[in-house]
Amino acid sequence: MSSTPDSPIAILKTGDRQLDATLRPSVWDDYVGQAHVKNNVKVLLEAARKRGDMPEHILFYGPPGVGKTTLAHLVAASIDAPLKSTSGVAIERAGDLAAILTNLEPGSILFIDEIHQLSHKIEELLYPALESGHLDIVLGKGPSARTVELQLPPFTLVGATTKVAQLSSPLRSRFGGGVYQLDFYSEEDLRSIIARSAQVLGLSPSAEVVEKIANRSRATPRVANALLKRVRDFAEVHEKELTPDVADEAAKLFGIDALGLTKDDRRYLETLRDGFKGGPAGVRALASAMHEDPDTIENVYEPYLLRLGFIERSLRGRILTQKGKDYLGS
Ligand SMILES: Nc1ncnc2c1ncn2[C@@H]1O[C@H](COP(=O)(O)OP(=O)(O)OP(=O)(O)O)[C@@H](O)[C@H]1O
Ligand SMILES: [Mg+2]
Repeated sequence: MSSTPDSPIAILKTGDRQLDATLRPSVWDDYVGQAHVKNNVKVLLEAARKRGDMPEHILFYGPPGVGKTTLAHLVAASIDAPLKSTSGVAIERAGDLAAILTNLEPGSILFIDEIHQLSHKIEELLYPALESGHLDIVLGKGPSARTVELQLPPFTLVGATTKVAQLSSPLRSRFGGGVYQLDFYSEEDLRSIIARSAQVLGLSPSAEVVEKIANRSRATPRVANALLKRVRDFAEVHEKELTPDVADEAAKLFGIDALGLTKDDRRYLETLRDGFKGGPAGVRALASAMHEDPDTIENVYEPYLLRLGFIERSLRGRILTQKGKDYLGS
């Protein structure tokens, strides 16, 4: 049984498109935390502006919901560039890539989400486009086939991925503007994000309520925003004030415990403990025992469990730590 459509796990996986868009910061000052990424990218953009050039290509990676797409939008907005968004799975054939690249407005940002999903063939086509702004297209078949070189409008590629390890090293090396890791957020940063989101939604929660939500947000802005919305809805439906107790009840109803873990995380830990004697267990075996897909296990469940120190990764697989056992025992 995989997670239900509106569980926190599902929200991490797929996002809440409307809420993400409503609460997405549109200026750098509203983009909280990740200072090293922000500062480096801003310098890169400013240097390009001074040269009168497009910035070099940039890659962002990190767990779901930590602000990769938001950064791509900010990059485009801050140099006043049109943004074209697509994703690794959407570019299947050479023709798809050619259509996207040749139709870019000059000076665009091309955002490719989940860029690790590009096929090898598409990657190879992309290299000359990234390096020298042209595309080699093969016309015709067999002996009469010929290659034409298509000149492309100038653009900057912004890539994002939750799985940087799956990116080929030739592709990785094409991001001359840098490869930036986005990390989980501190509680302080989460509190700032929640306070700003509350303002956008016309709410004024107390510091205590903000803290409750921050504690339960898996160190992830998308979860923080989703939980804030749940708390608001819960208070509205029950015609209650936004008190810390109401925040607790809403979080419980949403299926998040005091550490930000869901019943799905618990099931993961229990499967590791009971099905695999605490490990080591391979991710595929775990996924199959849980009827989940291995990608979700690796990208959605595990990063936060690793951060909490409830599991460890070894060469032979995942291991439940004493901390993880204690959590289950409680
Ligand atoms: N640094 C930040 N400051 C304020 N809000 C943020 C920040 N990062 C993310 N958010 C909020 O969290 C939401 C999710 O962020 P975003 O969509 O950019 O994540 P992502 O890393 O692209 O996730 P995914 O891997 O699922 O595509 C955004 O809509 C935004 O409201
Ligand atoms: Mg995204």
